[in-house]
Amino acid sequence: LATLSGSPRRALVFIGFMGAGKSKAALAARRAGLETVDADRELERDLGRPIAEFFAGEGEEEFRRREADYVVELLEGGGADAIALGGGAVLSDRVRAALRGHAVVWLDVDAETAWGRVEGSSRPLARERERFLVRHAERAGLYESVADAIVPGHRAVVERSLDSLIALRSMPVGTRMAWAESESGGYPAYVGRGLLGVGRLRGPGRAFLVTDSVVGELYAEAAGPVDAVIEVAAGERSKTLTEAERVLRELTAAGATRSDHVVALGGGVVGDLAGFCAAVYQRGIPVVQVPTTLVGQVDSAYGGKTGVDLPEAKNYVGAYHLPAAVLADPATLSTLPPAELAAGFVEVLKTALIAGGGLWERVRALETLEPRLLDPLIFACVRTKLAVVAADERDRGLRQVLNLGHTVGHAIEAASGYGRYRHGEAVGLGLLAALELSDAGDLRDEVEAILERHSLPTRIDPAIAVDAVIDAVGRDKKRTPGGVGFVLCRAPGEVVTDQRVEPDVLRAAVERLYDR
Ligand SMILES: NC(=O)c1ccc[n+]([C@@H]2O[C@H](COP(=O)([O-])OP(=O)(O)OC[C@H]3O[C@@H](n4cnc5c(N)ncnc54)[C@H](O)[C@@H]3O)[C@@H](O)[C@H]2O)c1
Repeated sequence: LATLSGSPRRALVFIGFMGAGKSKAALAARRAGLETVDADRELERDLGRPIAEFFAGEGEEEFRRREADYVVELLEGGGADAIALGGGAVLSDRVRAALRGHAVVWLDVDAETAWGRVEGSSRPLARERERFLVRHAERAGLYESVADAIVPGHRAVVERSLDSLIALRSMPVGTRMAWAESESGGYPAYVGRGLLGVGRLRGPGRAFLVTDSVVGELYAEAAGPVDAVIEVAAGERSKTLTEAERVLRELTAAGATRSDHVVALGGGVVGDLAGFCAAVYQRGIPVVQVPTTLVGQVDSAYGGKTGVDLPEAKNYVGAYHLPAAVLADPATLSTLPPAELAAGFVEVLKTALIAGGGLWERVRALETLEPRLLDPLIFACVRTKLAVVAADERDRGLRQVLNLGHTVGHAIEAASGYGRYRHGEAVGLGLLAALELSDAGDLRDEVEAILERHSLPTRIDPAIAVDAVIDAVGRDKKRTPGGVGFVLCRAPGEVVTDQRVEPDVLRAAVERLYDR
């Protein structure tokens, strides 16, 4: 991925805990041709002795003071393209202030892996395991709060992500990136205002843009120039095999080859359809996802699930096809009709129920869906989704948590012919059913109140027959010979998958959605 926009103005600054691989990242940056400084090495020169010796002689406070003096000068001097900082450097307010404007990369490593890497070394703060683990937990929030990019602290991953990090230097300040790593590969997920306008963001070869009629009109030019534009009608009804065939034939007519790529510009419908076409066109060409709805930016663009619906059931035909990159520009949400924004908010709500903790607290407290309130939540949701997919790309277990609310939600969409409800609205109703099935009455009431606050439906249209919904649940594609596995949520952050539910209990939960 590269950008054709202005020249880099910022240094890549690697931060992270001891053992996260900052020095290795500096080596990789140097090999990639960047003017690179490993701050600890240079600081030792400045101190005139090894850090461990200085630390033992003068104490931590004096070390931190000297470290901050050196690092602030380095950051303000502007002489380096890449800098690796010591693990504690960001404890200093002065250093954190000097980091602003640079592209700060947190190499995120779990405590046990980090300990395994530094145990027995001469590092002054890596002598005692328990204190090391506590310090690791204390620092995570700090690293996260100053990071523009978050990359797993593993050498091969850092090397793979380097080009994408270099690209980040040229992106608008405020753009955040998370490196998504899972079973079949990795890719950068960028979220930032103005991303769409920074110039042409490219995958390999020529770009074949797939978009819908509404989004194409609004944003195709800003996302271009591209080599061909393929447009589908807006809405879920385009997510069909017939439309997929049409897109595939247009790719063929336009001469797309395996060296080219597809750009999916639009909401979840375009993302799923174009991603599916990219997955099967000549057995697979890259796709860059450029989501323009809240559903797309928090959920559907990431993780590689692509596909189309059958009249009988939702998402019944598809493929796993990880994107080459995701570029989410929240500024595009300004043109999204309020009802679409609200529908997207349901995926935010679902993600918050899965994550629990701070994300849930922030989401339940939202009074309105204003962009300035939504912006920071988008990246938080992306991180939750990527963490789940990282652990289980192919939906063998954990990933099924992402289906919270979707079993009944998809059934409502299918039973109503994909035309009555937006995907998010149906999932909102599905969340209420799932919480009812989870025996989480208070949480169900709170979620109902949240849905109402954002003008989302909490009752099913009585024109849709209960039996049609229940029958569609029975066709859920996650069913096994043992039955349909439900995702239940007993409390925010406590989600369980593959739960069996008695038919009469399911019927009662669906019927409650009709109560007036
Ligand atoms: N693959 C996955 O992991 C995954 C996850 C969640 C949802 N999905 C799928 O996503 C789909 C729903 O996505 P969606 O809610 O984005 O619907 P969508 O793609 O139909 O977009 C909703 C509407 O908003 C319009 N639109 C899009 N961006 C706009 C913008 N910036 N300004 C103005 N209008 C804009 C579209 O033209 C469309 O009319 C469903 O098919 C669902 O199954 C997939």
